[in-house]
Parts: sequence; C-alpha cells; structure tokens
Amino acid sequence: MSETRPDLTVNEELLATYDGPIPRHVAIIMDGNGRWAKQRGKMRIKGHRAGAGSVRCAVESCRYLGVDVLTLYAFSTENWHRPRGEVSGLMTLFDVYIKKERRRLVENGIRLHVIGDRSRLSKKLRKAIASLEEESAQNEEMILQVAVSYGGREEILRATRELGNKIAAGEIDADDIDEELFSSALYTEGRIDPELVIRTSGEQRISNFLLWQLAYAELYFTETLWPDFDEAALLESFGSFAARQRRFGKTGEQVEEE
Ligand code: IPE
Ligand code: IPE
Ligand code: MG
Repeated sequence: MSETRPDLTVNEELLATYDGPIPRHVAIIMDGNGRWAKQRGKMRIKGHRAGAGSVRCAVESCRYLGVDVLTLYAFSTENWHRPRGEVSGLMTLFDVYIKKERRRLVENGIRLHVIGDRSRLSKKLRKAIASLEEESAQNEEMILQVAVSYGGREEILRATRELGNKIAAGEIDADDIDEELFSSALYTEGRIDPELVIRTSGEQRISNFLLWQLAYAELYFTETLWPDFDEAALLESFGSFAARQRRFGKTGEQVEEE
C-alpha cells in the first residue's frame, strides 16, 4: 500500500483482512454481462452498464491492495461481430467511463494504457483515450491496461511485422529477436506478465486474450457474473492464487527449498 491515502470507494475494511501474497499483475476476462441482464429481463446493454460498476470496484480494490498492473479485457477483435447496436452501446460506455473516471484515476495515481487495435475505434474515442493516457502518464501507483479491440493473435502478428520491418531496414538482426525484444514489441510493451488471470461467468477459455503473456499465469475461473464481481470475489481469487505453488517447470521440492 502506498503512503498517500487514496480516495477509494471500495470496502477497505474487507480488503484489509487479506494478508496473503498480492499478484503483481492481475488480468481479468470480464464476462457474463449479457447473462446478468437476461436473468433480470433487461437489455444486454444494461448488463454492460452494471459491469462498469464492477470495473471501478476491481480497479480501486487492486489499487488499494498494491497490485502493480491490472489488465481488463473489455472488447475483443471478435466482439466486432456482435450486433451493431451492442457494439455502439459498448463504445459509448468506454467513452463515458473515460470521462467519468478520469479524475478518480488520475488522483489515485493510476496510469491508463489502452491495448488493442485503436485504428478501428472512432476518432472521438481515440482522442479521449490518448488524452487520459497522456494526463496519467507519470502516475506510478498502478498501471491499468484496458484491452479494447484487442486480439492476442493480432498482437503477435503486429509485433512480428514490426520486427520484420526493422530487419528489412537493417536496424536489427533476426538473431537479435529474443523473448525480451519480442515482448517489448507487443502492445504490453514488455511489462511483467500476468500472474493471475480471472475469468468470470463460468466459461473456461482464454478467448484470444494475451496469448503470449499468459504463458505461466495462474488461471482462476468463477461462476460469478461480471456485474456481481465485488471485493469479496476478488479476495477469493487472491486466496486461490495464494494457495498455489508456482513451479515454473521445477519440482515441488526444488521450489520449497528456494
Ligand atoms: C462480457 O460480457 C462483455 C463483453 C464481451 C464486451 P458478455 O456480453 O460477453 O456477456 P455474456 O457472455 O453474453 O453473458
Ligand atoms: C471475451 O468475452 C472478451 C471480453 C471479455 C471482452 P466473450 O464473451 O466475447 O468471449 P467468448 O466469445 O464467449 O469466448
Ligand atoms: Mg461473454
């Protein structure tokens, strides 16, 4: 936790009860908004709106607990295939989120970084994103990566093309390409890989999310739908993370000795 007392709207009393290890990078596949709405006989967009409340809760809870990087999967390259009305509703929600949360994010020391293919976003949304990224660029308490129009394969291809062009231009040698250089060419710019990945709504798949970066992440699946994901649900996932032995190919005995 940081020295300066942040202005958070989360259940700090509950969060303070957690004394286990904090994953440095948490990534969340925020799923189940549509089903949450359906259960209530509401339009899907209402579910997405409710999900935005869980976004604030997850962001501020992770900030409170001292997570370094939080990555939220908000919209995949595949999500462009959804009905037009839902896509435009989601885009409006991102715009609203950026405007509404701007002050809170900046004042809480959170740096925003949007990952994904921005060229497919509207000019207005691109501008709003770039402006908040710039305003929060010096913030160091936590990095919030929001994946919008993001696809893991697309990200890998894009990095490959970029490095290929550098080879063609004589700037690098093919043999220079190692994990570090490749990671730095991804949208995530070589930041630490996720240690814990959470997916809500009971689905157990990765859905083209951070394919390179998830190589050794701990996966956590919960039946909870995204709009219902609160502080208690987050702590449950941290508790599960805490109970695991991360072996990275070694034996359990080797890890215990370390
Ligand atoms: C996740 O909720 C949000 C996005 C993918 C944008 P869904 O909209 O996928 O919710 P379900 O899976 O239909 O319940
Ligand atoms: C994955 O959710 C993408 C996001 C959460 C943004 P989907 O609901 O689109 O995933 P699939 O297609 O069911 O795997
Ligand atoms: Mg879904």
